[in-house]
Amino acid sequence: MEQLLQQIEQLKQEINAFEGVNGEAAEAFRIKYLGTKGIIKGLMGEMKSVPNEQKKDFGQVMNSLKQLAEEKWESLKGAEDNSTTESGIDWSLPGDAASVGGRHPISLVRNQIVSIFKRLGFAIAEGPEIEDDWHNFTALNLPENHPARDMQDTFYISQNPDWLLRTHTSSVQARMMETHKPPIRIICPGRVYRNETISARAHCFFHQVEGLYVDEHVSFADLKQTLYFFVKEMFGKDVKVRFRPSYFPFTEPSAEMDISCSVCGGSGCSLCKHTGWVEILGCGMVHPKMLDNFGIDSNKYTGFAFGMGMERICQIKYRVNDLRLYSQNDVRFLKQFTGGI
Ligand code: DAH
Repeated sequence: MEQLLQQIEQLKQEINAFEGVNGEAAEAFRIKYLGTKGIIKGLMGEMKSVPNEQKKDFGQVMNSLKQLAEEKWESLKGAEDNSTTESGIDWSLPGDAASVGGRHPISLVRNQIVSIFKRLGFAIAEGPEIEDDWHNFTALNLPENHPARDMQDTFYISQNPDWLLRTHTSSVQARMMETHKPPIRIICPGRVYRNETISARAHCFFHQVEGLYVDEHVSFADLKQTLYFFVKEMFGKDVKVRFRPSYFPFTEPSAEMDISCSVCGGSGCSLCKHTGWVEILGCGMVHPKMLDNFGIDSNKYTGFAFGMGMERICQIKYRVNDLRLYSQNDVRFLKQFTGGI
């Protein structure tokens, strides 16, 4: 027994000292120590010559020897993996896929809206986000002290001259009529600002698309048909529309347009507040006073205008029900939007 233990101790040292860096060395090691005809198997055979009372101790010593040999073999195999190239890099390993970025849902909706109206011959117009009182209010038939000014909580930048953050993209209508002669056919996508407390349903900035068409013989029927075409392209051909009379200082007559709820199909849900209809935009015939403000002959020309919120369209299309998500830059939210134009 004493002799056997000495032999095992020696083997342990031998195993610890074994060096090899390629597959062949690892395999040679395995055959020599761990193979069916290897040294460890051979020593196990000595068990029968060990006295009964020492069998347990001998077994433990043999187990630790076997474990040591197995660990050594594993590390030799690891060395083999690393030695597949000179640089120690395994070029055959699959790489990390680079994730492709997606568009922001508001951009997706804006691009879709723009592409639909472009097909109808509308051009894109842009205006400044920092506006003066004239273009944002007065020119739009909202003179000072007009009660409708209070509906839009304005961020004023300075008092005299009056600079403010535009509260709606209707200001671009004013700028277009100021600088262009009819026919005018534009849409204006852009960011607008209102002094609102941020919540799931209100935000201090959001996005609108304004539309304006001024020419001879433009009628309310043109307005209806244009907007009906738009919603069919946006939400599918089965969508229904309805117009409700409304009031905007810059249009007369004015209306709000609802579409049939695409979530519940009209049977009632939280989006449509169980009415089957969701409001999506305001519109109307351009007020003759506005045309006159810009020297456009209101006896000869008529026009229609509309304005809609992109977040609203996005809410209906993608069922996003918290406005704050759009500006929080949470990739878990943004990652859900892929594709699109
Ligand atoms: N400017 C309106 C708003 O922000 C939306 C709007 C309504 C625009 C009617 C229009 C229109 O051009 O004709 O609530």
